[in-house]
Amino acid sequence: MPNKREVAIISAAATKCGEHWDKGIKDLAWEAGVKAVDEAGISGKDIEYLVVGNMSGGMFVGQEHIGALVADFLGLNPIPSLRVEAACASGGIAFSQGCLAVASGLYDIVAVGGVEKMTDVEPEQATSVLSGAMDFEWEAYFGATFPGLYALMAKRYMYEYNVKIETLANVAVKNHFHGSLNPLAHFRNRITVEEALISPMVADPLRKYDCSPVSDGAAVAILAPLEIAKKYTDTPIIVKASVPASDTLSLLKRRDICTIDATVYAANKAFQLAHMERKDIDAVEVHDCFTIAELLAIEDLGFCKKGEASKMVNEGQTYVGGKFPVNMDGGLKASGHPVGATGVKQIAELVKQLRGEAERGRQVNGAEVGLAHNVGGSGGTAVVTILSR
Ligand code: COA
Repeated sequence: MPNKREVAIISAAATKCGEHWDKGIKDLAWEAGVKAVDEAGISGKDIEYLVVGNMSGGMFVGQEHIGALVADFLGLNPIPSLRVEAACASGGIAFSQGCLAVASGLYDIVAVGGVEKMTDVEPEQATSVLSGAMDFEWEAYFGATFPGLYALMAKRYMYEYNVKIETLANVAVKNHFHGSLNPLAHFRNRITVEEALISPMVADPLRKYDCSPVSDGAAVAILAPLEIAKKYTDTPIIVKASVPASDTLSLLKRRDICTIDATVYAANKAFQLAHMERKDIDAVEVHDCFTIAELLAIEDLGFCKKGEASKMVNEGQTYVGGKFPVNMDGGLKASGHPVGATGVKQIAELVKQLRGEAERGRQVNGAEVGLAHNVGGSGGTAVVTILSR
């Protein structure tokens, strides 16, 4: 971080993702918050500032004013609290804002969270709420949906780089495999390429197993300056960089719909601030809201040239145990995508990985440096965060 104070994570925790019929938005935020506070060994009274990512509490459950709501439910009153929104990157933005608050010297102990309760509405309504993250006049008004927009990106990508549909299926199979090993994942079932290829069509060429699900969930991380974090934990996780970037909301105006330029910019800046190179990264959590998005992310983050991620996926390099493990928790595809919480959930997964605490079979051995990549909409926002032990 370009700052006077190095920022570290004391603890991070997430709820299980899924259809939580018995839990409301407050219960989810409370569950993740209490887990994170307990794990940190701090008292709620030590927290000085709260930032919460939430995409659409108002449309999903009729609840706005999420910052104060979560502060109240976690017993944090009267500290300052706010809700930030950047569609599916709301959690990533909350995290980067929390880091700035610590780095600036204004606050010592900061809680950053993300929460979304999506399954109380019918699926059609969820699709319509999510469409609010695209350009309304140019896309949503004409009936575009996110599966539809990512389908356009997938079609173009497959044409440009001669990529077969089996490559997308391989991404889903790998993420469901990792998800099967993750007790917090929305889906624990393993699937085959054949099952992925005959699952119901959603938006050609994307089928059900190419899509992330509609999930409820929450995650919270506790941040502090490194020197203070060391008082609470022997394994503080250092935030080397957390960089947001923006681009056009509509695909129409993009330079190239096979590239998310916000990711390219945020990644280049993050590596520059962290004084690191791509080869330094041991474990990656990318924003695979659709299988095509995982391929684009690997390329846009600079881990290979355009069109070459398919080779890495088809050769099995992206499995835990492979040369370049991606989405060790099952990604958005299998671990779930509670939109406003996803960015913080990725951070919680990396903290686990860097502390060597992930479950057997999905722990990247000896992981020292991890990268999280969170996207809003079809790429209007991207946040890239680099963490190290
Ligand atoms: N992947 C795997 N399985 C899924 C799934 C997904 N994405 N979505 C639902 N399922 C499963 C359900 O668990 C259920 O299983 P069961 O029969 O064993 O209980 C079954 O498929 C049918 O579920 P249902 O809720 O009826 O599915 P649906 O047809 O209403 O929704 C999608 C499926 C893919 C359309 C929905 O998950 C979706 O809209 N995903 C995209 C979300 C999105 O756009 N997010 C923002 C990204 S920018």
